[in-house]
Amino acid sequence: MKKLILVSAFVAALGTFASEGHAQQAKDAKVLVAYFSWSGNTKVIAEEIRSVTGGDLFEIKAQNPYPEEYQACTEKAKQEKESNARPALTGKVVNMADYDVVFVGYPNWWGTMPMPVLTFLESYDFAGKTVVPFCTHGGGGEQNCFSDFRKVFANTKATVGDGFLCSGGSVSSAKSRVASWIKSLGL
Ligand SMILES: Cc1cc2nc3c(=O)[nH]c(=O)nc-3n(C[C@H](O)[C@H](O)[C@H](O)COP(=O)(O)O)c2cc1C
Repeated sequence: MKKLILVSAFVAALGTFASEGHAQQAKDAKVLVAYFSWSGNTKVIAEEIRSVTGGDLFEIKAQNPYPEEYQACTEKAKQEKESNARPALTGKVVNMADYDVVFVGYPNWWGTMPMPVLTFLESYDFAGKTVVPFCTHGGGGEQNCFSDFRKVFANTKATVGDGFLCSGGSVSSAKSRVASWIKSLGL
């Protein structure tokens, strides 16, 4: 009986050791949460990821702001997509080399990433990092939002994690989904 108790205690101690090791690993990974958001939905998810991971937040912003009116914004976005534009951005992540994991968030614009997100992705060397997309949409779902993201990193030394998708109307109730997605990434 004594032997059994001792063995159980040993197994329990091993479990504690293993989970501490995992927590240590997650704590040591330096996380950046970069996002583009025109009407605020993607920003809600970005802030949630930041609160779960303890990472730094960076807003991807075009130097030339998008029109505040929806129709005008969609037209500008469409033109940029059709011309494969790379709009100039405000600001830069000066310490990108420090990050191990970079979450990149954006709304679905015309079935894919807004073009400033491509400017952002092409501005840095992500070799050796894990990049993870997250996207909000207005009913169209994923479309090419994640496949186009993955294409940017084909033949590079970055690892692309599974993306998180959320409709714009349900970002405020996505807390637990965000938490379990981040857990499933095993960072
Ligand atoms: C320019 C533009 C294009 C859009 N295109 C799509 C689309 O193709 N499919 C879709 O489901 N939603 C589309 N939407 C809706 C947004 O993806 C959705 O509202 C998103 O949650 C907005 O995120 P944000 O508040 O972070 O900007 C579009 C919105 C805009 C402004």
